[in-house]
Amino acid sequence: MDKFIISGGHSLKGAVTAGGSKNAALPILLSALLTDEECIIGRVPLLRDIETTFKLLEYHGKKVSFSKGVARIAPHKKLVTEAPYDLVKQMRASVLVAGPLLARFHKASVPLPGGCAIGMRPIDIHITALARLGAKIDNANGNLLLSADKLRGARIRFPFPSVGATENLMMCAALVPGVTILENVAMEPEIDDLLDCLVKMGAEMSREKGGRIRINGVKKLRGVKHDVIADRVETGTYLLAGAATRGRVTVKKSCPEHLASLLEHLARAGVRVSYTADSITVDSSKVRPRSVSIHTEPHPGFPTDLQAPWMSLMCVSHGSGEVKEDIFENRFMHAPELARMGALIAVDGHTAAVEGVPSLSGAEVMASDIRGGAALVVAALAAKGETTVQRIYHIDRGYERMEKKLASLGAKIRRVKG
Ligand code: EPZ
Repeated sequence: MDKFIISGGHSLKGAVTAGGSKNAALPILLSALLTDEECIIGRVPLLRDIETTFKLLEYHGKKVSFSKGVARIAPHKKLVTEAPYDLVKQMRASVLVAGPLLARFHKASVPLPGGCAIGMRPIDIHITALARLGAKIDNANGNLLLSADKLRGARIRFPFPSVGATENLMMCAALVPGVTILENVAMEPEIDDLLDCLVKMGAEMSREKGGRIRINGVKKLRGVKHDVIADRVETGTYLLAGAATRGRVTVKKSCPEHLASLLEHLARAGVRVSYTADSITVDSSKVRPRSVSIHTEPHPGFPTDLQAPWMSLMCVSHGSGEVKEDIFENRFMHAPELARMGALIAVDGHTAAVEGVPSLSGAEVMASDIRGGAALVVAALAAKGETTVQRIYHIDRGYERMEKKLASLGAKIRRVKG
């Protein structure tokens, strides 16, 4: 297993360019199952989860080619409606094939994705909502068996604004006769990007005020050419690395409005934040950041995917604060690893109390999930001495060429193939 060796204590300076959003690309690539025409998706990052998605599309019968960030998904064979367990277990977003396959073929068999390091990750909200459209759903041998004699539009209110459930229902309802109103939907920018792409494919769909999406099902969807939005979580991670190392970092081709909560919290921490329409700069070279508490919320609140890297910033900030994780039940696995580097963190259920220290010290640490692994890298860059971050395959799931981008900012980081 590959690992990173990082020699910390160097302030990051300079600019990097944001890649395309992993969490927008995944549903958008899978929406190709809704059409028999070619889909050309641009600004697709080269990540493990994206490669898994390509394998999933090919398994289902599509022909996929990928070069220089552009994925071409073309019709190839008759589509298969059973999803493979070995791919679903690698990437729980595979459950997003259910909506498209059910809409087109009135049947789908999808292995229950199982949990992951950050939580049980149930899909009850997806299931209840698909049933509202008329799907019959059984669970046999760990597989979700969906079938429907006929599907009709319905008014569906989500008990929680689940990102995945919103995406699954948007893709399904796009081809279901009648009007579907989704209420209490996720407001994340990745949802807007999927909606824009589906409308380009011919879907009749629009966001309405008050967290509602109105969908008028159509008979057929056509192919599409669409570039995904910038990855706001990758962008936020590099901004936090700049702030934690007392540096000055710009992320180009990013979208400031997608990171309003992070930028507001950074400003409250005393970090100088400036931005243009498509770039963001943070500068903590003059003043040590102050500790600012966060609690994670659905968008536009503070994003759960930046909770871990934010905690790393708090570990080296002046003062103490709290991190409250209100989205996932087990998203503090980076805390004990940060403590190995000298961080002062006390975890109590969904809350972590963090007291800033003058500096962290390098150590051997281990990543357990994508964003927790990124947090360990941020901490290692700020720490004095050398850190080894093990199991960086987690990080490779969500960050393209992280070591190259960080090295271009002056970080002393290298990948050791394991
Ligand atoms: C998406 O996951 C993202 N993944 C996650 O990013 C992100 O953390 C999450 O949204 C929240 O923003 C992708 O887009 C591929 P949810 P998703 O459904 O769709 C519970 C990363 O690091 N829930 O909004 O799974 C669930 O257990 C990843 O890039 C149910 O209880 O998120 C969780 O506690 C990690 N029942 C909460 O809701 C359901 O049916 C949020 O889940 C569905 C969800």
